[in-house]
Amino acid sequence: MIALNAVHPATQFRFNESDPVLKSALDQRVSVSPLKDRIKIYQGDINEIVNQVCGEIQTLDKIRGSLNLAFLDPEGLELKWSTIKQLASIKRMDLIINFSTGGLVRAIGKGYIDVVDQFFGTDKWREVDIYPNNPPARRRALIDFYRKNLEKFGYHIEIDPNLGGDDIAFNNSKNAQVYSLIFASKHELGDKFWKQAAKNVKPPRLPGF
Ligand SMILES: C[S@@+](CC[C@H](N)C(=O)[O-])C[C@H]1O[C@@H](n2cnc3c(N)ncnc32)[C@H](O)[C@@H]1O
Repeated sequence: MIALNAVHPATQFRFNESDPVLKSALDQRVSVSPLKDRIKIYQGDINEIVNQVCGEIQTLDKIRGSLNLAFLDPEGLELKWSTIKQLASIKRMDLIINFSTGGLVRAIGKGYIDVVDQFFGTDKWREVDIYPNNPPARRRALIDFYRKNLEKFGYHIEIDPNLGGDDIAFNNSKNAQVYSLIFASKHELGDKFWKQAAKNVKPPRLPGF
């Protein structure tokens, strides 16, 4: 909804929601947008739908170059690294990823190791998960490991532990971090825009956590 109401909106939008009831709510919401002709909505698992979306972008890229932004907003660890890799294969694809630090720590705690491996696309995350008694340091190490792995796709990632990196953290009422918004661009202008935008964000407390 925010993207549809932007001052300079994109020329095309792709939305995806796996839950049929929520997909129907999404259909209704976007149907009243003046930009509804620019919108295509999918219903499915993003880890499969991504093939279709990337295929469409690649077709478009052959005709004229496209500039893309993927906003990935999972609840937990359902977003697989293979999906990130596929999105990253598009030449100009900026990423905003809602990284569920709370979900990640819970999944590790419950022993859902296969899910965590698919989320990171590797089992090497174990090597940075070395702060069992220091939750902030543990979250920082896991987020930075994820962000650093984006570098191999050509994204610029500055890891500055003193500044907390370039993600925006969302805390719960006990001041523990539950989500962290990660941005990645292959172009320095993208980084510049994100930094400017991030300056104006007051991270909200998430109710109910
Ligand atoms: C955090 S919510 C997104 C909320 C939405 N961005 C908004 O602001 O209203 C995550 C959504 O992802 C959907 N979801 C969960 N697993 C999914 C998957 N594998 N593929 C696509 N959507 C999924 C859930 O049904 C849920 O609606």
